[in-house]
Amino acid sequence: MQQKGRFITFEGGEGTGKSTQLRLLADYLEQAGIANIASKEPGGTEIGQELRRLLVTGDKDKFDAVAECLLYYADRRIHLTSKVWPALEKGSWVLSDRFADSTVAYQYYGYDKKVPYETLDALYEIAVGGFKPDLTLIFDLDPEIGLARSFKKAEGMAVKETRHESRGLDFHKRLRCGFLEIALKEPERCVVIDANKSIEELHREVVRIVSERFGLG
Ligand code: TMP
Repeated sequence: MQQKGRFITFEGGEGTGKSTQLRLLADYLEQAGIANIASKEPGGTEIGQELRRLLVTGDKDKFDAVAECLLYYADRRIHLTSKVWPALEKGSWVLSDRFADSTVAYQYYGYDKKVPYETLDALYEIAVGGFKPDLTLIFDLDPEIGLARSFKKAEGMAVKETRHESRGLDFHKRLRCGFLEIALKEPERCVVIDANKSIEELHREVVRIVSERFGLG
């Protein structure tokens, strides 16, 4: 793949505000004349939408962590091959609401390491190869605040996308630590953002980080 655009991923626990920040950055880039697409995992493609419904709704124990990894990686592979890579080749930037760090945080740290790390590495190699995000923004927030926001948002949904929210606070505390460990392991790719701020403050911070990294002028 001849990558010309930039690939930026937005990561974090539930209700951290990352999706709002992704939309705001997409608009900002558009106004700065930088073509971009806003996408997400799971569900960034038509087939991915079907996988998303399976993955984020219903009983939390309907599959185990290994089955979940395989389904998230199927969604990821379809997302990369049909949307992300073609867009990057054309020079468009791609902003993705979650990517592979979410699998490590949720299916490895959250599940208290029930899926061996080597399994996740092998799946990454098969589905993604040597490709990586150019920048990953990790939105860090106390999960009690994030979960409350997320459950409130779900009140208005016809089909509740709260399968992972219902795993309990300890799960969400583990995955928060997991995201912070990922950032420590790859400091050149990951930037941790304290998400306990207003939407406007967070947007200014995101723009500053992206400008410093890629020189938006
Ligand atoms: P979201 O779009 O609201 O963030 O919902 C996606 C849900 O799926 C969220 O609970 C995190 C979870 N998830 C995983 O558990 N593993 C993954 O690899 C990804 C991409 C998401």
